[in-house]
Amino acid sequence: MTEQKTSKISGFYKLSIEKRRELIQHFAGLTNEEINAFTKSLPLETADRMVENVVGTFELPLGIAVNFLINGKDYLLPMATEESSVVAAASNAAKIARIKGGFTAECSLPLMIGQIQLLDIPDMVSASKEILAHKKKILEVANLQDKILIDLGGGARDIEIRILDSPLGKMMVVHLIVDVRDAMGANVVNTMCEALAPLFEELTGGRVRLKILTNLADKRIVKAKAVFDKESMGGEHVVDAFLESYTLASIDSYRAATHNKGIMNGIDALVIATGNDFRAIEAGAHAYAARDGYYTSLTRYHKDENGDLVGEIELPLAVGIVGGAANMHPTAKLCRKILGITSAQELAQVIVSLGLAQNFAAVFALSTVGIQKGHMSLHAKNIAVMAGAQGKEIEQVSDQMVLEKKIKLDRAKEILIQLRKTR
Ligand code: MEV
Repeated sequence: MTEQKTSKISGFYKLSIEKRRELIQHFAGLTNEEINAFTKSLPLETADRMVENVVGTFELPLGIAVNFLINGKDYLLPMATEESSVVAAASNAAKIARIKGGFTAECSLPLMIGQIQLLDIPDMVSASKEILAHKKKILEVANLQDKILIDLGGGARDIEIRILDSPLGKMMVVHLIVDVRDAMGANVVNTMCEALAPLFEELTGGRVRLKILTNLADKRIVKAKAVFDKESMGGEHVVDAFLESYTLASIDSYRAATHNKGIMNGIDALVIATGNDFRAIEAGAHAYAARDGYYTSLTRYHKDENGDLVGEIELPLAVGIVGGAANMHPTAKLCRKILGITSAQELAQVIVSLGLAQNFAAVFALSTVGIQKGHMSLHAKNIAVMAGAQGKEIEQVSDQMVLEKKIKLDRAKEILIQLRKTR
């Protein structure tokens, strides 16, 4: 009988780093060598192959969010972030979501869009007809660019024509739609667009300017849903308070920006941990949040007939598990193994669920105790260390400051002196 793996781990935060690693190793079936890779930084030679002018590497804390149940499967989520409370908040949200079955996520095919901009077209109508009449040829030329992608079942699928008014007069933008399978897709789409430029000039009599993918990947949409148990939230009045908070994000761009930032706290952390391009994800998410002409929340919430809170999220997610940093960075590879994902689509569904969890956690805290409380304990620990506390003293000094609600360096020093006197 195979052992049932669960990501539901209580008190994970109380364990030593060694114990946490042991648990992860067991969960993900990692070798000793693999788990030890956590302590090694990115080799300089690898870094030197990734970007230019390398002089070193830059590290971030990597935490593990626990309790995630997504589409019936347990996941431990590696999160690379510099922000305190984020990993704990996500784990707590996932714990509450678990009570009602966890997250249900789905996604579209991994379709990316490349844009080819055409200027000085003498006749837009006949140019459009020419392009459509040669669609088969256009897709063939695109698909000659990447044999491996075709062998994997991907490739250019379709074209769409848009005619835009601009200060320079009318211009045409052709969208090339490409199934990029398990890649993020930027390289292949850009290569295809560049290769198609001469053909489009020939077909339209115009001039090609830009040939580049769009990060508004709105054909690569991922959604997740979860029900948050009202009792665990503190009762139906807390659900109502939550909905009041959420409503502001739904109607006001100032609040929506911060609300969505909370979503990206989770999404970016996992996107970075898996070696993906977080700027592409950010650009796509915010453009999608403004798709109806005004900037709004990427999540939606309502109360169900039971009084529980139902949360939903939807956004484009262009993430890959092959190519780029995802394949070069040893920690990114390890993180993928911990996740146990087998496709880019599965990764996207995990990421979007984390985004929903993170958003729920933030708005839940804001609607109840506020977020400073969560930040307080780690902040207090940092102040205790600055005051000179060591080992067990760190916890003792920080606990006392949190109790007194006075987290200041001078107070930390006083407590430390007192503590050492009484020993
Ligand atoms: C802080 O990093 C994120 C929050 O501001 C998100 C929010 O306000 O919803 C707490």
